[in-house]
Amino acid sequence: MAVTYAFDVYGTLVNTNVIQEALVRLVGDHAPLLMDAWRSKQLEYSFRRGLMNRHIDFMVCTRQALVYCCQYYNIVLTEAEENRIMEAYRSLPAYPEVAGALRELKERDIPFYAFSNGSSPAVKHLLEQAGILDLFTGIVSTEAVQNFKPSPTVYKYFLDITNTSLPNACLVSGNSFDILGAKSAGIKTVWVKRNVNQFFDPWGTAPDRVIRDLGELQGFPVSTVEMQ
Ligand code: 2OP
Repeated sequence: MAVTYAFDVYGTLVNTNVIQEALVRLVGDHAPLLMDAWRSKQLEYSFRRGLMNRHIDFMVCTRQALVYCCQYYNIVLTEAEENRIMEAYRSLPAYPEVAGALRELKERDIPFYAFSNGSSPAVKHLLEQAGILDLFTGIVSTEAVQNFKPSPTVYKYFLDITNTSLPNACLVSGNSFDILGAKSAGIKTVWVKRNVNQFFDPWGTAPDRVIRDLGELQGFPVSTVEMQ
């Protein structure tokens, strides 16, 4: 049976670190610290809301995390500056190798979806801006089940909505929380470890494969037999 790939979006297909350039103009040397704190707080807000059963658009988590981090670091942003940063977040560029790697999968008739906490319109806009939307079989947003990764409900939803049986699914993500969530749901996983100072959580379980970028997917399994 053909494998169906689920590609995480933020930090896997599109580069969230590019936001740092927008932040440098506003906060100078604070940018790297603010960028890391913002990403952590954005994800923390999604985890909290998932546990509270209080889902909200992921861009709201993103904006509220930015406001919190600016307060925490005593950074004053005007509303216009905040809107400019959020606009940059809506149009993040794809990593350089992504389009070529996805085109190769498409040429091999392998079905693959963008699978994200982001709302369908937000992910569609992001992929359109990044020039890769037309490569995808479809977009699967966790908003459909009013939850966030790594809740098991979102991985089950991916399998159901794409009509994929568990052994034939594979998640590709640069985010270890997402890899651990998918593995916990029984889904095969490929962790994209783009830089050496990325570490995997010491939870006693590992991704099925580790790649440095999506270019290493070339020649990747198209059937579950090869995935073993
Ligand atoms: C996603 O795209 C947040 O990277 C995560 O769902």
